[in-house]
Amino acid sequence: MVLSHAKIETNTAILLVLSLLTVVIGGIVEIIPLYTIETTIERVGGVRPYTPLELVGRNIYIREGCYLCHSQQIRPFRDEVERYGHYSLAAESMYDHPFQWGSKRTGPDLARVGGKYSDEWHVAHMVEPRSVVPESIMPSYPFLKDRVLKTDDITAHLRAVRKVGVPYSDEMIAQARADMEAQQNPDADTAGLAKRYPKVPVGIFDGDPARITEMDALVAYLQMLGTLVDFSAVTPQQLKQ
Ligand code: HEC
Repeated sequence: MVLSHAKIETNTAILLVLSLLTVVIGGIVEIIPLYTIETTIERVGGVRPYTPLELVGRNIYIREGCYLCHSQQIRPFRDEVERYGHYSLAAESMYDHPFQWGSKRTGPDLARVGGKYSDEWHVAHMVEPRSVVPESIMPSYPFLKDRVLKTDDITAHLRAVRKVGVPYSDEMIAQARADMEAQQNPDADTAGLAKRYPKVPVGIFDGDPARITEMDALVAYLQMLGTLVDFSAVTPQQLKQ
C-alpha cells in the first residue's frame, strides 16, 4: 500500500490524473444534489421587502460602516442561539443587496436586535453610546439626528432594487414617499403602509415627526431586524428547546 502510493507520488502524470479524478468526484457529489432541489433558500413566512424608510436606514448602516464592528449572522451553535436567538436563515437576507452578514464582532451581532430596546434607547445610544452603556467603545453618531433625509430619489431607489430581484409592486413604488412619511409619524394614516409591509415598526423614532432624519431611518431599520420571521412555524428547531 505504502509502496504503491509512493509510485503515485513520484509520477507527476499519474498524480495529476488521480488528483483531477478526486476533485471531479468531490465536485459531482456537492453540485449534483443542487439540481434536484428547487431552491437553496428555505421557505419561511414573514420575510418581506424593506419599507422605504428601512431601506434608506440600511444604506446609512452601510455608509457608516456599522458592518465593520457588527455581524448580522447568528451561527447554529448553542452559545450563539442562547445569546442572540434562533440562528440566521438564508431567507432572512434574501432581499439584501449586498448582504450584511459581516465577519467581525467588535460589538454584538445585530441580526435580532429589533424590539430588544425602545426607540428612545436607540437614539440615545446612537447620539452617545456611553450615556446608556458606560463601558461602550462604540463611536457616537450624533449628526444623524440633525441630518434631514434625502427623500426625493426614493422612488427611483425602489425601482433600482426591483431590477435586481426584490419584489416591490407598482403600488409600493408609487406610495414610497408617503410610506416613508407615515412610518415615522404614528398620527399619519399607516393602514396602507402596514398592509404593504406586514409587521412594520411605526414610531416617532428620533422624537420629531415633523421631519424625517437619518436617525429615523437607521432606528426604523434596527427595530425591524430579526422580527419578520415567525420562528414558531420554522423547522428544524432542534437547537431551540
Ligand atoms: C468600532 C466598532 C463599532 C462600530 C463602528 C459600531 N458599533 Fe455598535 N456597538 C459596538 C460595541 C462595542 C457595542 C457594545 C456596547 C454598546 O452597547 O454600546 C455596540 C452596540 C451596538 C448596539 C446594541 C446591541 C445590543 O444588542 O445591545 C447597536 C444597536 C449598535 N451597536 C448599532 C450600531 C450601528 C447602527 C452602527 C453604525 C452606525 C454601529 N453600531 C457602529 C461597536 C461598534
